[in-house]
Amino acid sequence: MEIFKVKDYEQVSDKAAAIVIREMIKKPNIILGLATGTSPIGIYQRLIEAYKKQIISFQDVKTYNLDEYVGIDNDHPQSYYYFMNEQLFKHVDINIKNINIPSGDINQIEELAKEYNKKLYGNQRDLQLLGIGSNGHIGFNEPGSELGNETFVVELDKQTRIDNSRFFGSLDEVPTHAITMGIKNIMYSKHILLIATGESKAQAIYDMVYGPVDESVPASILQLHPNCTVIVDEDAAKLLNMKTDYLTF
Ligand code: F6R
Repeated sequence: MEIFKVKDYEQVSDKAAAIVIREMIKKPNIILGLATGTSPIGIYQRLIEAYKKQIISFQDVKTYNLDEYVGIDNDHPQSYYYFMNEQLFKHVDINIKNINIPSGDINQIEELAKEYNKKLYGNQRDLQLLGIGSNGHIGFNEPGSELGNETFVVELDKQTRIDNSRFFGSLDEVPTHAITMGIKNIMYSKHILLIATGESKAQAIYDMVYGPVDESVPASILQLHPNCTVIVDEDAAKLLNMKTDYLTF
């Protein structure tokens, strides 16, 4: 694991986007694993800018998203399908056939999870983008989820629903379940890029970096990934013992 500490959200976005852009230039048919949430929005903005300047193209890029809420339609403004379209896809030249987001259709959710899982094995991600929950989740692998999990339907942790209620009218409107890549799927990526900002992530980052590899902090499994880059701002790095802005294990 290598960790870069930078000043703030803007610098995290700059550095992470530079890595994604570099990889897209090196491999125009790259397979990307993508995340939603507040953390990657700055990266997506920079990717759109790079596309507009013709530095990168998404024409041959395939994408696989981490997760989706169960039981809300694609056109719901809080669905991850809607989010990805608004924040990235509608602004670039991606072929719609190359976009993969797990479906949260409640009627056939178990079948859909199996199908998505199969696709993930046939399309190893070159680069997987991750945020981290304040409870240490990655994707929606909540504390206590088995580290050997493949794509599955998860009951969301109370803390996650509270954290995400900022996007919904009230806590009651936050879905109770989601479909998510399992830890095993996330680990099946050649390179992982995790970003985190803000003090609310500091404990999760500390536990991810120094803690035992344990189901209580799902992100701790990343200690075992051979190529994991973490970019954090000063607040999220607050509890790390970093004498310089770079740390590697
Ligand atoms: C999103 C996802 C989640 C988020 C995490 C952090 O697809 O899988 O694990 O990355 O909850 O969310 P933000 O970035 O909103 O703090």
